[in-house]
Amino acid sequence: MHIVNTVEALRALVNTWKAAGEHIAFVPTMGNLHAGHCQLVKAAKETADKVVVSIFVNPTQFGIGEDFESYPRTEAQDHEQLRAINTDVVFQPAVSEMYSPTAKTTVSVAGLSELYCGVSRIGHFDGVATVVCKLFNMVQPDIALFGLKDFQQLAVIRTMVNDLNMPIKIIGIETVREANGLAMSSRNGYLTSKQQQIAPLLYQTLCTAREEVIAGTNYTTVEQHALLTLQQAGFQPDYFRVCRSNDLAPAQIDDTELVLLVAAKLGKTRLIDNLCFSKHTA
Ligand code: PAJ
Repeated sequence: MHIVNTVEALRALVNTWKAAGEHIAFVPTMGNLHAGHCQLVKAAKETADKVVVSIFVNPTQFGIGEDFESYPRTEAQDHEQLRAINTDVVFQPAVSEMYSPTAKTTVSVAGLSELYCGVSRIGHFDGVATVVCKLFNMVQPDIALFGLKDFQQLAVIRTMVNDLNMPIKIIGIETVREANGLAMSSRNGYLTSKQQQIAPLLYQTLCTAREEVIAGTNYTTVEQHALLTLQQAGFQPDYFRVCRSNDLAPAQIDDTELVLLVAAKLGKTRLIDNLCFSKHTA
């Protein structure tokens, strides 16, 4: 496994593979890898000849007062995990390698980036779109894999790739969960043992809401019920919305392909999750 820190070294490797006609899959991450990240890398390995994984805690997607400084950095363990699943390259640039102090360009997916998580995390999705666009230009992959866990992020990336004619196939991978249903996340490590007991309720609330939607309960009632359940358990919910899965617009009664989106704080830790389903076949 190659570990490279510069764009130049990365391009040298990528160019050799491309010259040999090999297909490249890319998995961008911020490190502190868990089974969810590894699932993406394993799927990448199945679809391409070479797999590049980036580890970069991207400062531009963190807001003021968010956890950029304290975000877990676990380089040695990350390398061990990536080596065990046959990753070809780990691209791990310094902030100065990624961002020039004189840079003037950002990528912004208007509209979608201001909804849901974008309301409380202003500028977050511009930071994500910009860094992913830059990483795509550096790696030049044929395929890139993202988790459905970050459903809005995936929608932002798909829109960017489509709007800017990037020749990259985007693949969404199912959320990997703990046995109790909690979606795996690097931020779960912030939870106290008491909060760990409460956290699985986020997914349980999604499952209950799905049943209510299928039973024909109106969406406002479903949303209010979910918010109340979360509040009573000690969460501070940010939003709980019944949306159309293709464009994340608020769902209308005759929409069938739906996604429930939720974000809620447990103490200082902000957790997100979602549940995608078809109203008629679920
Ligand atoms: P990070 O949170 O490290 O996640 C990297 C990738 O792993 C994302 O595509 C995310 O959706 C996926 N992922 C996280 N938890 C998962 C789980 N439980 N099951 C399946 N996939 C999961 O998302 C980011 O980093 C950054 O915003 C990034 C795209 C790298 C840009 O900086």
